[in-house]
Formats: sequence, C-alpha cells, structure tokens
Amino acid sequence: MSVPLMDIGAQYGPLRAEIDAAIAGVLDSGRFILGPHVTALEKEISERLGGRPCVGVANGTDALVIALNALDVGPGDEVITTPYTFYATAEAIARLGAIPVFCDIDPVDFCLDPALIEARITDRTRAILPVHIFGQAANMTAIRAIARRHGLPVIEDAAQAFGGADAGTPIGAMGDLATISFFPTKNLPGIGDGGMVVCRDEELAERVRRLRFHGSADKIVFQEVGYNSRLDELQAAVIRIFLRHVDSWNDGRRAAANSYADAGLGDLMTLPGVRDGVHHIYHLFMARHEARDALVAQLGAHGVSAAVYYGIPMHLQPVFAHLGYGVGDLPVAEACANSAIALPMHPHLAEADVHAVVQAIRTVLA
Ligand SMILES: Cc1ncc(COP(=O)(O)O)c(C=O)c1O
Repeated sequence: MSVPLMDIGAQYGPLRAEIDAAIAGVLDSGRFILGPHVTALEKEISERLGGRPCVGVANGTDALVIALNALDVGPGDEVITTPYTFYATAEAIARLGAIPVFCDIDPVDFCLDPALIEARITDRTRAILPVHIFGQAANMTAIRAIARRHGLPVIEDAAQAFGGADAGTPIGAMGDLATISFFPTKNLPGIGDGGMVVCRDEELAERVRRLRFHGSADKIVFQEVGYNSRLDELQAAVIRIFLRHVDSWNDGRRAAANSYADAGLGDLMTLPGVRDGVHHIYHLFMARHEARDALVAQLGAHGVSAAVYYGIPMHLQPVFAHLGYGVGDLPVAEACANSAIALPMHPHLAEADVHAVVQAIRTVLA
C-alpha cells in the first residue's frame, strides 16, 4: 500500500470531460487574455467574499507584489509578516525594495501571534501581512484591531486557505486586500499558474487592474510602471469548474483530519491545533514530533509520503541574512520548522489510508 502526500489526479479524474470541453470552448472562442471566463471567475469569487472586487493575475506571488504595490509599499518601508510561510510572501515584500519584519507565530495555529505584533511596529511600518497558513485563518480579529489602532492596512495571504473562515467571515474578506494562488496543489487549483487579488473597494481594485496591465487602464495612456500579470483565460475556464467543487473538497479534507484524530494519531504526535471559531480547510495536515527528521526519512519505506514545510523559517534564510536575525530570535517559528511534518492530506483520503499512515508512524516511532 502506498499513500501519497497529495492526489490531484483524484480531483481532476471525474471532471475530465467537463475540463476538456471548457478548454475546447476557449480555443473555439479565440479569446485567450482577459476574456469572459476571467471576468466570470472574478465575479463568482467576489460573490463568495461579500461582493469585494476581485482581479485575476498571473500567480499568487504576483498577487502579493501587486497588492503591496497598490498600497504604495516601496523601498525602505517595513511590512510585518510571518517567518513561517512559503518564501513568496517575504519575497514579494523584498521585491518592492521593502523590508520584511518577521514576527513570531502562535504554536496553535502556526500563524502570526497578534500579541507580538505591536512591538514590531515602527514609523516605517506600512502594512501587516498575515498568512493563513496550511488552511487555517490567522487571528484576524486581533490583527485588524492592532492595524486599526496604528492606521495600517492588512493584506491577507490566502494562497493556502480558499474556502476557510474565521468567526463566520470568509478568508479573503477580512483584510484591506487579500491574495489567492491557484497553483495546482492549492485547495482551489488551476492546471498551471494563476492568482487573484481581492480588494476592499473599487478604488483599490482599479489600481490593481491597472497594475496587472502595464499601469494602464486603456492600453493608450500609461500612468505608472506596472506588470504584465493576467490570469489566463484557459486557467479561468478550468478554475470555474473547480470552484463548484471546492467546498465539498474542503469537507473531504476536514473529514480526513478528523479521521487522523479518530485513528489515535494524537497519542503519537501533536495534532494540528484549531483556534476556536475557525473553519480550517487543511491545505496541509501538519503534525509535530521531535523525531520529525527520522519520520520523514523512514515513512517512505512504509509506503507513506511525508514532507517538511517549512524547514528553514524566513528570518534564517540566506537571502535575508543582511536583516541580522539569528537562531533563537523567533523561537516558536524555529521550533515548528524543526518539528512539523506534513502527512498525506487530500479530499479523497480514505480511512484505510489514514490507518495505514498512523500504523506506519507507530512502527517508525516504536
Ligand atoms: C503562503 C503562500 N504565499 C504565496 C504563494 C505563491 O503563490 P504562487 O505559487 O501562485 O505564486 C504560495 C504558494 O505557492 C504560498 O503557499
């Protein structure tokens, strides 16, 4: 028996005929850039997010860069963010010449610890950028309260958390801006790169639309230096199909997470924590154990795929060495980086697979 970490083929398989027809439809239409599927997808996602305007872009990394740019974040500015994320979050800040200011995380939800944010705010702080990591909402109520007190905008990095919510509010509708990735392994995937920026209001959306198209609203007048970063029409056509399934897929992930607990994994490892009121959609299932490296090395021999996310937190990455952080500066993020392990998680994970994973872990740890 072998249990893969993810299984995107199991998601596409039953939808293959519909996907093929959607692709053929785009080919027949001859509309490949910013056509009706992009507009429709922007509207459909907006409807899920309280009517906030959405703007499709080329990928989740560009979504972050463009969102920061739309807030006029630039050289020398500081943006407070988490060290325990995929590199793109911090890279987007640095791409604009700004400085990522890393703030430690809460060990329960792996997200920015609001209690530590205020001490990081300076007169150069321009934004707070929490990441809803692994499918769980950051504590946005607390983060927004801090942001309001200091007059700072909040950008939600929602790359890993489409369909999640906190206290009934959907992820993506809580910040001034939010960014989505449709990378093929994400909860709402594409079949290539894709991304979206969700905007608080039409004014910000206008700026984001202009930025995604070379800084022009009409292709005649160029008002600022922008990007060529559009969501592809073929991707949008396929993502629209997946959008109709994302909630049931997320339910499948939640059921798999419950199965891990029911199968006794909590007796062997620290299960992922869930903050009260959070609708966790388990982009990844991250358990913790001090013998993480042995588990990763040995589970494969038992047919179980497992992986490390994120083995080196951002403040200790070579690219940010000039910022002067050292080992021990952000101890919770470092502890998670050293002990967290992603176990198989996807919408169609069977109970038998869950039991096989737990048994394999029991054997390795014995
Ligand atoms: C937290 C986070 N932010 C940003 C990104 C960047 O998204 P993309 O790969 O679409 O550029 C990703 C994923 O890749 C991510 O996991």
